[in-house]
Amino acid sequence: FVCLFISVECCCVSDVCRYPLGMSGGQIQDEDISASSQWSESTAARYGRLDFEEGDGAWCPEITVEPDSLKEFLQIDLRSLHFITLVGTQGRHAGGIGNEFAQMYKIKYSRDGSRWISWRNRQGKQVIEGNRNAYDIVLKDLEPPIIARFVRFMPVTDHSMNVCMRVELYGCEWLDGLVSYNAPTGEQMSLPSAPVYLNDSVYDGAVIHSMTEGLGQLTDGVCGLDDFTHSHVYNVWPGYDYVGWTNESFPSGYVEIMFEFDRTRNFTTMKVHCNNMFSRHVKAFRQVVCHFRSESDWEATPLSFSPVVDEKNPSARFVTVNLANHMASAIKCQFYFADAWMMFSEITFQSDTAMYNTTLAPPKTGPPTRDDPTHKVDDSNTRILIGCLVAIIFILVAIIVIILWRQVWQKMLEKASRRMLDDELTASLSIQSETFAYNHNNQSTATSELESSSTYERIFPLGPDYQEPSRLICKLPEFAQSTEEPVQDGVPHYAEADIVNLQGVTGSNTYAIPAVTMDLLSGKDVAVEEFPRKLLTFKEKLGEGQFGEVHLCEAEGMQEFMKKEFSFDVGENQPVLVAVKMLRSDANKNARNDFLKEIKIMSRLKDPNIIRLLAVCIYSDPLCMITEYMENGDLNQFLSRHEPEGQLALLSNAPTVSYNNLCYMATQIASGMKYLSSLNFVHRDLATRNCLVGKNYTIKIADFGMSRNLYSGDYYRIQGRAVLPIRWMSWESILLGKFTTASDVWAFGVTLWETLTFCKEQPYSQLTDEQVIENTGEFFRDQKRQIYLPQPVLCPDSLYKIMLSCWRRNTKERPSFQEIHQALLESQA
Ligand SMILES: *[C@@H]1O[C@H](CO)[C@@H](O)[C@H](O)[C@H]1NC(C)=O
Ligand SMILES: *[C@@H]1O[C@H](CO)[C@@H](O)[C@H](O)[C@H]1NC(C)=O
Ligand SMILES: *[C@@H]1O[C@H](CO)[C@@H](O)[C@H](O)[C@H]1NC(C)=O
Repeated sequence: FVCLFISVECCCVSDVCRYPLGMSGGQIQDEDISASSQWSESTAARYGRLDFEEGDGAWCPEITVEPDSLKEFLQIDLRSLHFITLVGTQGRHAGGIGNEFAQMYKIKYSRDGSRWISWRNRQGKQVIEGNRNAYDIVLKDLEPPIIARFVRFMPVTDHSMNVCMRVELYGCEWLDGLVSYNAPTGEQMSLPSAPVYLNDSVYDGAVIHSMTEGLGQLTDGVCGLDDFTHSHVYNVWPGYDYVGWTNESFPSGYVEIMFEFDRTRNFTTMKVHCNNMFSRHVKAFRQVVCHFRSESDWEATPLSFSPVVDEKNPSARFVTVNLANHMASAIKCQFYFADAWMMFSEITFQSDTAMYNTTLAPPKTGPPTRDDPTHKVDDSNTRILIGCLVAIIFILVAIIVIILWRQVWQKMLEKASRRMLDDELTASLSIQSETFAYNHNNQSTATSELESSSTYERIFPLGPDYQEPSRLICKLPEFAQSTEEPVQDGVPHYAEADIVNLQGVTGSNTYAIPAVTMDLLSGKDVAVEEFPRKLLTFKEKLGEGQFGEVHLCEAEGMQEFMKKEFSFDVGENQPVLVAVKMLRSDANKNARNDFLKEIKIMSRLKDPNIIRLLAVCIYSDPLCMITEYMENGDLNQFLSRHEPEGQLALLSNAPTVSYNNLCYMATQIASGMKYLSSLNFVHRDLATRNCLVGKNYTIKIADFGMSRNLYSGDYYRIQGRAVLPIRWMSWESILLGKFTTASDVWAFGVTLWETLTFCKEQPYSQLTDEQVIENTGEFFRDQKRQIYLPQPVLCPDSLYKIMLSCWRRNTKERPSFQEIHQALLESQA
C-alpha cells in the first residue's frame, strides 16, 4: 500500500517529490555527466556537482560565454524518466581562489535524448536567475516541473564573461512512465465575464491542429479547482489549470487522447481529474473507451467504462478507470461528452512496475540510490516470480483455512454483531449507497423502522432477538435532520440520549460530554469573570460559522486582570493576544443557550496543554468568550513553514524543527488529551489545525478549526449541512456516528502522522473524500484491504507502531491517552 502514497499524484507531488537526484550525493555516475566543452581536465563536467570541491571546484566551459550564444551546456543523464521539481546551482569557489558563477541560465531537457525542449515557466519566460556569488547555493522551483531523462544547464550572460557551475536536480522517479500524450488542442469558452482559455499552455510538444509528442498541463501535478475560471497559479488567465473541449467541435461525441509510454507496462488504473461544474455545462465524461497497444498491434477488444454522471456535486474530482491489468506501451482513450463541455486537469497512470519499484521512496537517511535501469528490470522480474510463487502458496493455505474455519467464523460474526448491538451501535447511514456494499441479510426480518427510511442501512444481519426498534438509535443527528424522512417517534434523539452535544456557535462541534458530567458542572458557577469589552482591539478574523465569528484581538490589561492565576506567554508590557469567540446578535435562543453551556464547560478546563478560557463578556450583546491565543498560530501552519533538519533545509535556509522538538510537541498533545479524557470529554476534532503553538514549542489544544476557511478542505460536507473532518475520523465515527475517547485516540494517530510529515500534505491526500469513506468501509470490514497512512520519512518504527495502534479496528484495543503519553515520553528519553 505504501506505493499508493508515493506514486506520482496530483496536488502534492511537487511538495513531496523533492529529493536530490545524486549530483551532490554521488549516485549519478561521472560518465553520466557531460558538457559541451571544458576549460581543462580539472574543470571537466564531472566536477559540476553541487557542494563538491574536487578538481578545480566546478565545471567550466572552454571559452568565455557570450551573450545569446547558448553554445555551452552541462548535461546530466538520469538513466530513466524523472519528475524534476527543483534545481540548485552554485559557482566555483575553490577555497577562495575561484570567482566564476552563472548569473542566469536556461534549462533544456529531453526524454529520449534526441528531441530537446527549452523549459519555460508558466509565464513563458526561459531565463532563470542564477547565482550572485561563487559560494552560495541558489535553489529554484521549476514551475511547471519537468519530466525528463536528460537535463542541460545552459549559462546565459549579458556580457562576455567566464562562467563555472555546480548543479543539482531535485525530484523523484516518474513512475507513470508516460512519455507523451497526443490530444486535440484545448478550446476557448466565451463567458459573459471573460473568455476562458482552455488550451494546454505548458504543453512541450508540437501544437498545430492537435497536440503531439509532448507532456503538459495534464501531467504537471496541479489539479484544477472546482470553479474552472479560477486557478491555483497566480497571474494567469481564467481556465489555466484545465484543458477543455466543447462537443460542438466533436461530431463523433468524443475526444480521443493517445498516451505513449516508455515501455510495455501492466496497467492497473488511470485516474482522470475532471471538472464537474454542471451549472456551466461542464461534466466529467459519460463513458471512456480505451484501446491498448503492446508491441505493434492494437488489442482487438477495447475496454469500456461508464462512470456515474454526477449532477449533484459540482466539485472537481478524480475519476478512476480500472485498466484491468492490460499490457500496453500505448493507450488510446475516447472520452465521451456528458454535457457541452469536458475539462481535464490531470491524468495519471498506475502500473505494476510502479508497485515494485521503490526507488521513489527515500531511504531514511541520505538521498535515494539509483540502480542501472537494466538491472532494475531483471530485478523486478525475479521479484514478480517470487511474488507469484508466494501468492500461490498463500492462496492454497488460505483456501484450506477458510474451509476449516468457515463455520467457526460465522459464529464469531454473529457474536460480534451482538456485541456491537450491545453497544447500541446498530444503525448507520449510507452516505453513498454505492460506496457501501454491505452484506444485507435478506432472510433476517428487517424491522419496518429501518425499511421506512431509505437513508438508513443496516450493517449487520440482525438475529431475531435484536429487532426492538427502541434499541435502534441513530447517533447522527446532523444526518437525521438533513433527511426528508422525519425521525421515528420512540427513537431518542441524540441530544436527549446519554450524550450532551454542543454544536459550537462557530459551527465547530465542540466537546461532547456525558450528561452526568454536565450535571456536575452545572452545579457550580461559571468560574470566569467579565472582561471590559472596550479593552479588546480587533486584529484579524480567524474564522466564522453559522452563528458567530472568531477574532484575534489584543487584550489590554489582561495580565493584571488574570492576576496570579495564569501566566502568559509574553514579556512584560507586551500586548496579550487572545482569541475572541463571538455570538452574532441575531443568533437564536438555542445558539445562545449552547454558547452559555460551552462557557460553563470551557471554564472548567484547566490544563497546561488546553487552551484556557480567560474571561467572558456576557453582560451585554454580543456574547463573547475570550480564550488564550499563542503567538505562533496553529501547529499546521507552523510546521508548514518549517522543514526537517537536514541537507535540504540547510540549502534553502528554511527554519527547521528538530525531531526531538516534534516529539516534545506530540507529547504535549497527548498530555492535553489525557487530561480531557480523564474528565470523559471527547474532543471530536483533534488535528494539528486545532493545536496552537507558543514559545519554545509549547502546545495547547483548541477547537476552532472547523470555523476557519483555511481548512474547509479538511471537512467533508454532507448534503450541504453537516461538516465532518473525515480524514481524522475513526471508522466508527464515520459509519456509526460514535464519538468516544477511543475515536479521539484515532484522530491523535492522524495528528501525530501530520506532525511527523510537517503537515506538507493532507492525510490520504491521494484519495478523494468518497474514497476516504470507502476506505473507512474497509477498516470496518477488516479484510486487510484498508489503507493505512504510510510511515513518514522521519518517523522511527516505534512511533509508527503507536500510530498503527491508534488505528486498530477494535476500540478496546486502542491505547489510552495515558499509555500514549507514557510511550511518547519513553521514546524521547
Ligand atoms: C493559450 O491561450 C493563451 C491566452 O490566449 C495564450 O496567451 C497562449 O499563448 C496559449 N498557449 C498555447 C500553447 O497555445
Ligand atoms: C499484470 O499484473 C497482475 C497483478 O500484478 C497479474 O495478475 C497479471 O498476471 C499481470 N499480467 C501480465 C500479462 O503479466
Ligand atoms: C452538446 O451538448 C449539449 C448538452 O448536452 C446538447 O444540447 C447539444 O445538442 C450538443 N451538441 C452537439 C453538436 O452534439
